[in-house]
Amino acid sequence: MASGMDELFEEFGRIGSMGPPEPHALFRKMRESGPVVPSPVGDGSVIALGFDAVSEVFRDARSYSSAGYAKVVGAIFGHSILEMDPPEHTRYRALVQQAFSRRALESWRDRLVIPYAQSLIDDFAPRGRADLTREFAFPFPLAIIAGMLDVPEADHGRYMRWAVEILSGQMTASVAMNAARSLGDYFAPRIENARGRKGDDLITLLANAELDGSRLATEEILPFVRLLSPAAFETTARAFSNLMCGLLSHPEQVEAVARDRRLIPQAVQEGLRWEPPLVAFARTATRETELCGVPVKAGASVVVVVGAANRDPARWENPDAFDIHRPVRSHIAFAQGAHTCLGMHLATLELETALATLLERLPDLRRDPEAPPPRITGGSFRTALSLPVVFG
Ligand code: HEM
Repeated sequence: MASGMDELFEEFGRIGSMGPPEPHALFRKMRESGPVVPSPVGDGSVIALGFDAVSEVFRDARSYSSAGYAKVVGAIFGHSILEMDPPEHTRYRALVQQAFSRRALESWRDRLVIPYAQSLIDDFAPRGRADLTREFAFPFPLAIIAGMLDVPEADHGRYMRWAVEILSGQMTASVAMNAARSLGDYFAPRIENARGRKGDDLITLLANAELDGSRLATEEILPFVRLLSPAAFETTARAFSNLMCGLLSHPEQVEAVARDRRLIPQAVQEGLRWEPPLVAFARTATRETELCGVPVKAGASVVVVVGAANRDPARWENPDAFDIHRPVRSHIAFAQGAHTCLGMHLATLELETALATLLERLPDLRRDPEAPPPRITGGSFRTALSLPVVFG
């Protein structure tokens, strides 16, 4: 990796380090009081930890609004899809979804996902060892989203810097604001140029997406592009590091997948269940209601803890264990309902391709026996920041 990328990786690690380092123990303790608990802050807000409770909040966008994102995320990204409620969200999503069709996904698989996986492995394969998070999980989805946005290779360095720095808002607002401004300055003329043209990159697709004869204005597309940059890369990067940490800590499970590649999809889903990269999301109750018997006041904040819901003992036996052979039951790492992750099929394709390509290229892939065992850390974003492996 270039030296600039090393610096960016350190920043990515700092962003992931916020919050309690071992949140699962905390969630287990809180869940003893029930699937929905009042927030310890005592301001009337509630925390949903059970699978059914989290699912109910995600699926009821009319009772649980996403508008609260405007204060924090919106101040940096602009008015993005994340903070929209129906009916505004419904129309906007129908427009941007056109850029994520099955056909587009297939073409990105062949043009970007497979070639980037191969070329990153080419860089470290001859060494017989690598740090899978730093050298693979981190740059892989970042290069793919850059390619999807038609950012030329010569601009990848600065684009990647903005994509990482826009997340620094929780620590250094000015760094995040500068990154948001730079992304806007970079993409606005490219969106204008793409109007009326044909092309299958995301910018051209977004510039020309049409619904009932209307198109998105450039000012409407920019917040989406700002959101997409980190949404598409840092989630997938963290998810892949967590998946590999789970697998490599169970050599018999790596062996099973290496022997039978049909196990790859369930291994990927188990990784997402066991350690989703994003732990919790926020909603605001639009009316007085009740969640699993707990009263919720109009205007109350509702924190939905995906990381806890994915380990709900009422849904999964021995939920803290990483086990690719467990009976498949859908998890909630990609949310549900109106705001279900728009990139879930792309993320799944990236994770499955990455795992398949690593197993194919790196025989006898295993943890570096001389390195300390990898640990997944972070209270809000979860990542195995160091994942030294040997192979061959
Ligand atoms: C493993 C990887 C990923 C995970 C776990 C993940 C998870 C999520 C979750 C939980 C949400 C809902 C947030 C909320 O409503 O508060 C979401 C929304 C979203 N995700 Fe992902 N995501 C992943 C990858 C991606 C990728 C690759 C893309 C882009 C191509 C993407 C684009 C988006 C967008 C645009 C939204 C907003 C959708 C809306 O508000 O309607 N995500 N994601």
